[in-house]
Amino acid sequence: MRLTILGGGGFRVPLVYKALLADPEWTITEVVLYDVDAARLDAIGRVLAALGSLPVRTTTDLDEALTGAAFVFSAIRVGGLRGRVVDERVALAAGVLGQETVGAGGIAYGLRSVPESLRIAARAAELAPDAWLINFTNPAGLVTEAMAGVLGDRVIGICDSPTGLVDRVLRALSVEAGDVRIDYAGLNHLGWLYGVHDATGRDLLPGLLADDERLRTFEEGRIFGNLRELGAVPNEYLHYYYDPAGTLDAVRSAPRTRGAFLREQQDRTYHEIASRDPLQAWTDAWREREATYMAENRDLTGAGEREQDESRPAGYEGVALAVMRAVARDEPASLILNVANRGTLEILDDAAVVEVPCAVDARGAKPRPVAALPGHAVDLVRAVKATDRLILEAVATGSRDTAVRAMATHPLVGDPALAARLIDAYRAELPELAYLS
Ligand code: G6P
Ligand code: MN
Repeated sequence: MRLTILGGGGFRVPLVYKALLADPEWTITEVVLYDVDAARLDAIGRVLAALGSLPVRTTTDLDEALTGAAFVFSAIRVGGLRGRVVDERVALAAGVLGQETVGAGGIAYGLRSVPESLRIAARAAELAPDAWLINFTNPAGLVTEAMAGVLGDRVIGICDSPTGLVDRVLRALSVEAGDVRIDYAGLNHLGWLYGVHDATGRDLLPGLLADDERLRTFEEGRIFGNLRELGAVPNEYLHYYYDPAGTLDAVRSAPRTRGAFLREQQDRTYHEIASRDPLQAWTDAWREREATYMAENRDLTGAGEREQDESRPAGYEGVALAVMRAVARDEPASLILNVANRGTLEILDDAAVVEVPCAVDARGAKPRPVAALPGHAVDLVRAVKATDRLILEAVATGSRDTAVRAMATHPLVGDPALAARLIDAYRAELPELAYLS
C-alpha cells in the first residue's frame, strides 16, 4: 500500500517515516515524497535512507505522486518559511499578533494555502479517487473545509495539539484514555477540553481544576491563569485570545519571530544534511525546534521548560498513523480530528469543519457526540468560523474586498481600516496573493 506525502521535503517528514518503520504490521509498503523543491526532497531522502529501508521514491510531479496512492498526506507550506516570516512581520508592523495560524498571519497563510490545496484536491479526485487524504496543511481546519468541498469525507484534517493536551490532562488525572469519555470540541487551534467522564459518567475535570498543585503539573495548567473560571482546559493557541496584549508584547519583544528562527535553522540544517551525518544534523535541529516551541508563551507565564517525552504517542505523525491504521485495517480508534460538523456542535452548520473526537474505522471518521460547548466558547468559535468562510469566499471570487472583510471579522483584528492596510501590505509582499484584486 502506497503512502504519498505532499510537502515531502518538509522538515517533519522523518517523523512520519520513523512512525511507519515502527508499525509492526507494515501497513505501508512504499512511500512517495512529492515537493516543489528538489533540493529539499534530496536532503530529506538522505535522512530517511539513514533511518531505515522502507522503499522511498521522490518526485516533483504532482500527478505522478498522486497516481496509485492509497493514502495521501498533504503537508505543504505555500510560500515556505519566507511566507511565514512575511505573515509575522507585516502583522507585527501593523501592531497586531504575527503568528503562523492565529490572527492576521493565519489569514494571510490561509489565503495562500487554500488555492493550492484546492488544486491538489481536484487532481486527487481525478487521479486517486479512492485514496484517503489526510490534511496537515495549516491552517488545518480551514484547509480541510476547503478540500472537503471537493473530496467530501475522504479528507480528514489532523493536528497534534488536542491529542497532546488530552494526553497531558489524563496523566495529571492518572487515568487511561480507554477508561474515559472526553468532551473536547471547537475549531482547529481553537478548542477546549471541558469534560472527562469515567465509566460511571462522573466528570473528573472539576476536581483537577480545583487543585492548584495538580494544575501546575501540566503545561496548560501553568500557561493559563483562568482554568477554574473557564471550567475547561483550552488549547494552547487560546493563549493569544485570552491575553492578546501580553502575548503580542512577548512576540514583539522576542529577538526574532518563530518563522525567522526556523528559516535560519532550516537553511543551516538542510545544508548540513548534505555535508555531514544527515541523521545527526536533522535530529539536532528537531530537538532544538521542539525545545523552543511556543517559548514566548511559556516565558510570559513562567511556565518553564517544555516537557519533552519522546516516548509519548503525541506528535502529528502519531495521529496521522493512527488514522491510517484504523482506516486501512478497519481497527476502530477514537481520535480528535477535523471533520464536517453534521450536527455535532449545534451552533455551527453541518458542513462546517470542526475539531472533535471521532470514531475512525474503514468507513472513515465520524464525529462522536459531545456535550454542548461552554458558553464562553460560543462567540469565539462563531467569529473565527465566520472569518474562515470569508477567506473561502475571497479565494473563490478572487476578491480583495472579501479578504479585507475576513481580516476585519477576526477577533484579534476587528478594525476594517486596519484590515484593509493588512491585506494590501500582504498583497504587496506575497506574490501568491496576486489573485486578489
Ligand atoms: C504545532 C501545531 C502545528 C504548528 C506547529 C508549529 O504542532 O499543531 O499546527 O504548525 O506546532 O510548530 P513550529 O515548530 O513550526 O513553530
Ligand atoms: Mn496544529
